[in-house]
Amino acid sequence: MARSTPETRSRVRLHVNGEQYERDVDHRVTLLDLLREHLGLTGAKKGCDHGQCGACTVLVDGRRANSCLLLAVAQDGTRVTTVEGLGDGARGPHPLQEAFLERDAFQCGYCTPGQLCSAAGLLAEAAADPRSADLSRDGIAEAMSGNLCRCGAYPRIVDAVRDVAAGSRGAAPEGVVA
Ligand code: FES
Ligand code: FES
Repeated sequence: MARSTPETRSRVRLHVNGEQYERDVDHRVTLLDLLREHLGLTGAKKGCDHGQCGACTVLVDGRRANSCLLLAVAQDGTRVTTVEGLGDGARGPHPLQEAFLERDAFQCGYCTPGQLCSAAGLLAEAAADPRSADLSRDGIAEAMSGNLCRCGAYPRIVDAVRDVAAGSRGAAPEGVVA
């Protein structure tokens, strides 16, 4: 990569997990690298860095996004939620996090932050548009097909998402937008 100069840098302001951040970043820095390398939020994982695995999934203005595909400067003014922001300091972990634990929905855990953010986004989409939502096993698998799991924990991930969607975790799908 060519050297970073004042001409290749801009100020970016982001609301991340309820906190405001302001940083000077090179125009070529991705949102994933801004989160991990500049803000110290290492929950979102770098798998492929090419938009193919979903390990870097976060919510941008409430919508699921592969943060490795987004330039940080293009996200100026947005609200970002990473896995670190899914839970609530007062209420504890998010119901999806509890369901993943209860269902043992992971092995190595590398994909889990992305799976959780994707599931939170999916439930928010379903809450916003219940009539077109498909929260069947096949529907969840299809909607989360961009999140790969090399350990093959898919059946348990779907079980965990179904638990929360069905309210058996005691919480309505809130969407978890920042
Ligand atoms: S690291 Fe972003 S999709 Fe794989
Ligand atoms: S739990 Fe290992 S990659 Fe999904």
